[in-house]
Amino acid sequence: MKAVVLAAGRGSRLKSKTPKVLHRVFDKPILSWVLDSLAEVELEEIIVVCGYRADMVQSFLHAYPVTTVIQEEQLGTGHALMMCREALADYEGTVLVINGDSPLIKSETINDLVNFHNDNILDMTMLTCDLERPEGYGRIIRKDGSIMAIKEEKDCSEAEKKIIEINAGVYCLEWNTVKPGLEKLSSNNAQEEYYLTDLAAWAYSQALSCSGCQLRNPYEVMGVNTREDLALVWKLMNEANLQELMINGITVVDPSNTMISPDADIGKDTVIYPGTYIQRRVVIGENCQIGPGVTIFGPAEIGANSTVIQSLISRSSIGTDCNIGPFAHVRGGCDISTNVKIGSFVEVKNSFIGEKSAASHLSYIGDAKIKSNVNIGAGTVVANYDHRTGEKHQTTIKSNSSTGANSVLVAPVTLGENATVAAGSVITDDVPDGNVAIARPKQENKPSKKTFVQNQ
Ligand code: UD1
Ligand code: MG
Repeated sequence: MKAVVLAAGRGSRLKSKTPKVLHRVFDKPILSWVLDSLAEVELEEIIVVCGYRADMVQSFLHAYPVTTVIQEEQLGTGHALMMCREALADYEGTVLVINGDSPLIKSETINDLVNFHNDNILDMTMLTCDLERPEGYGRIIRKDGSIMAIKEEKDCSEAEKKIIEINAGVYCLEWNTVKPGLEKLSSNNAQEEYYLTDLAAWAYSQALSCSGCQLRNPYEVMGVNTREDLALVWKLMNEANLQELMINGITVVDPSNTMISPDADIGKDTVIYPGTYIQRRVVIGENCQIGPGVTIFGPAEIGANSTVIQSLISRSSIGTDCNIGPFAHVRGGCDISTNVKIGSFVEVKNSFIGEKSAASHLSYIGDAKIKSNVNIGAGTVVANYDHRTGEKHQTTIKSNSSTGANSVLVAPVTLGENATVAAGSVITDDVPDGNVAIARPKQENKPSKKTFVQNQ
């Protein structure tokens, strides 16, 4: 079997410069969700039809083992399939056609359709579904139980609009048998497009075997045509995922106020508090407490038994038994070991922090390597950026050292083991092992000439 993914449409109802299929749900383009659902379907080849901003879609597709076909003018879904005639010229098997704008469809559902098609030796099979609110979808028109046609909403009579069985936009076609039908499509309809769905009426007229396979879970059909649809897809995908997480032993305190990508992996007995947003490629261990108010952008990892409160973590790894936040920002490839504390108003960027080290309050740590058991005093700032050259420099702090409150470490600089920096110091030179560095004006106490007059 070969697959054709229809992804050429502009998605004019989204009113966007970005092609519809590249709009994202949980940081993953709609088209990726569709392609991922095909990953577990046995296919010889996947052909993706690109059209509107084909350059953008093609460059995104570089990461996928697919062939692309261009539909210069987007004249409808039937026309999009016509564009594949050359790519499928010598092909005689089954073609699975799938809309590129339905990110909720599951592999199992596609496989159900394929099995139904094969088991019943059909020429054309489509995935159908009964929807309480079928508005916007093509309706399945039946005569004596057989599918006679699919009618697009805009071409439906009032009576036809009442039909609740809809076309989900996934089809199995016996290519040799159905291919001639493409020549018969016309654009004589409300949208002046060549509808792929008109193949159903053609198949009926030719007495081909055409049938519908009923989808079990209606939420999977959802095609994205508007921004409202996009929001609904986020919501549905999220709800389904949170439900699965809870079944698997994760506490989600307030599912209506939590968003977690299905591509995130969360360990048992972890508790997710409200206001938490977790993107894809995030791995969280067991028994963690995440939230309230935590955002995590992947790739990121949080080890078991760690707590993160009111913080943003992006592209970083945090070990086990750590304590992050409130109001911490850990970003840009940080590697934080176990038992580390990153406290309130601390930003850490591209740094390694060793076991049992702590930066508890008001600090910036950038491009630093901090070994174990180091205490970063309140208000310590690593000055990693040289404004004259635009370069970033490294700072190293060896084990068992500490920096006093409000100290500045001007990179590149190294503090040795067991070193101490006195509060308020500006450190520009390396500090040897075991030394105390004091780099601040000495305090002078002078008798005051003024007499202090108390306010009346
Ligand atoms: C389509 C079906 C409708 C079905 C619904 C399910 C047709 C005519 N209608 O309607 O019966 O209920 O999907 O979601 O097929 N595309 C192209 N080239 C084009 C036009 C569209 O590649 O010239 C692609 C789009 O990028 C999209 C897919 O085909 O991924 C479906 O097109 P869309 O315009 O969204 O069709 P619907 O109106 O949703
Ligand atoms: Mg659509």
